[in-house]
Amino acid sequence: MANFINPALTISPDKISSEKISWQTPSNIAIIKYWGKHGRQLPRNPSISFTLNNAFTKTELTYQSKQSKSDALNLDFYFEGKSNPAFGAKSKKFLESITDIFPFINQMDFTIQTDNSFPHSSGIASSASGMAAIALCLCTIERNLFGTLKDENEFRQKASYVARLGSGSACRSVYPTMAIWGQTAAHEMASDEYAVPFIEKLHPVFKTYHDSILIASRGEKKVSSTAGHALMDGNIFAQNRYDQANQRFNDLLDILKAGDLDAFGKIAENEALTLHALMMTADASYILMRPATLSLIEKVQNYRADTKQPLYFTLDAGPNLHLLYPDEIRKDVKPFIEQELVPLCENGEWIDDCVGGGPEERSSFDV
Ligand code: PMV
Repeated sequence: MANFINPALTISPDKISSEKISWQTPSNIAIIKYWGKHGRQLPRNPSISFTLNNAFTKTELTYQSKQSKSDALNLDFYFEGKSNPAFGAKSKKFLESITDIFPFINQMDFTIQTDNSFPHSSGIASSASGMAAIALCLCTIERNLFGTLKDENEFRQKASYVARLGSGSACRSVYPTMAIWGQTAAHEMASDEYAVPFIEKLHPVFKTYHDSILIASRGEKKVSSTAGHALMDGNIFAQNRYDQANQRFNDLLDILKAGDLDAFGKIAENEALTLHALMMTADASYILMRPATLSLIEKVQNYRADTKQPLYFTLDAGPNLHLLYPDEIRKDVKPFIEQELVPLCENGEWIDDCVGGGPEERSSFDV
């Protein structure tokens, strides 16, 4: 077990000057899904995701020496330039839950300003990029104030561990290209506690893969991911699902190394439909797909049957369709999206994304 609990990370108050840390952190899309958890945010099965490029969160965290004598954490939280009590409360709870890892949190006041590149409530999860960004900011404070985490691998591993505590899938957003989270015999470095990068053995075709996100509905989700994970505990298919995910993970790793696009797509689509089947078979049952989701799926399957091109989809815990395809068919897929799929999207909205290079520290943003 990794042990990041470190009571030594406190500092004399006069050494804390007011500083600003900024990170741009991407969202990610899982191919093998994490669905079901236990303990302190530990996954029931291994998962693997693409790190995205254009769907990201910009986060500026400013800290100063704590001004009041009270024990309460002082956090001012702004989203898109406006105070946001709901996101603020979630972030505050997260910071309060990790003071054993970063005791200096108790010695500081914080302001967080955050902004997403993707439209607000477009149904794209911002918790992965948002929580990963806060974790990266905190690790940066630690490195700057204590001289620890100078080693890049150590830095990323701790950031991933901390991000996981904020939102499970966030731990994978710390790395470029692809990341694995969850113990598996198929990858000996993999851990339940943090994600690890999967790049070196990845076939080059996947390093420039596209993910075109079709917004079937912008509405708020009826059931949160937290509630969805909890419902897996009573789902009669749960154990079969965890066994299936492990088996698929083994298969997918070989496929990702070999660059077999149809085998990849078949697993990606079945994983998406399995995730939603688990929601539909939960007690209480729920459906996050919308009529437009099914219309889009049908169009994609027909396109594939007609053209024999490796255009496949996946879904997150929501109604929006993620189209996965290699760069070499982009010139055919783009007009198909624009002419056939965009008219089915809410307000014609879609996000043209692809695999990306991971989080970047910035000197500042205009957030
Ligand atoms: O990280 P959470 O707790 O929001 O769960 C996300 C789960 C899925 O997005 C549905 C799958 C995944 O592995 O990202």
